Amino acid sequence: MARTLFDEDYYRRFYSDKPVHTKRKIGQLAQAVDSFCQWWDLPVRSVLDVGAGPGYWRDWYKENRPRVTVHSTDISEHACKKFRHELRDITTWRPERTYDLVICHGVLHYLTDAGAQKAIENLAVACRGILYVEAPTSHDLEHVVDKRATDMNVRSRSGQWYRRQLGKHFVQAGAGMWVSRKVSLALYELERTKD
Ligand SMILES: C[S@@+](CC[C@H](N)C(=O)[O-])C[C@H]1O[C@@H](n2cnc3c(N)ncnc32)[C@H](O)[C@@H]1O
Repeated sequence: MARTLFDEDYYRRFYSDKPVHTKRKIGQLAQAVDSFCQWWDLPVRSVLDVGAGPGYWRDWYKENRPRVTVHSTDISEHACKKFRHELRDITTWRPERTYDLVICHGVLHYLTDAGAQKAIENLAVACRGILYVEAPTSHDLEHVVDKRATDMNVRSRSGQWYRRQLGKHFVQAGAGMWVSRKVSLALYELERTKD
């Protein structure tokens, strides 16, 4: 499989003409995740956005929670220059500090199995609260995503594979939210998936 180049053309193709997610939609998602963190009494004072691309999560926090510290990273030199992120590869970079909320939206399915495993280990070290993850699985790529709008040049892995890797460090709360096992948060049985 050819490696996707995260260059100017990539961001024009997937974020300008017919975006999969608009800034407004990501704002709604950020608000929902932030609200869940408040509901769980896990206040968000620091955010790490890994593979931040256009930086919509960072922008929502800057506009709506200006006191929150946001650290956004990406592997793309183009994205880092244009959208102001720190140049980091999550398969090899392990942050020195921890964050209340870690976001990894639409990134893991670009990585090899070994890369995604390393990335998840690094996300787990970075996260002291909630991890938000979106990564389409084999089922999603076959049955759910809009193949005309989505980058299909990605790795296809089962939901079971992701659950096994993420479950070592997190409890799945649903809707993309994973609670770090470092946190003592007693979710009711029906508020989480079977552990
Ligand atoms: C589909 S875009 C998602 C961008 C953004 N998170 C969003 O949801 O709008 C995938 C992003 O992941 C970044 N990426 C891919 N591999 C990465 C890696 N190993 N480390 C950090 N970022 C990576 C790409 O450069 C690209 O910006």
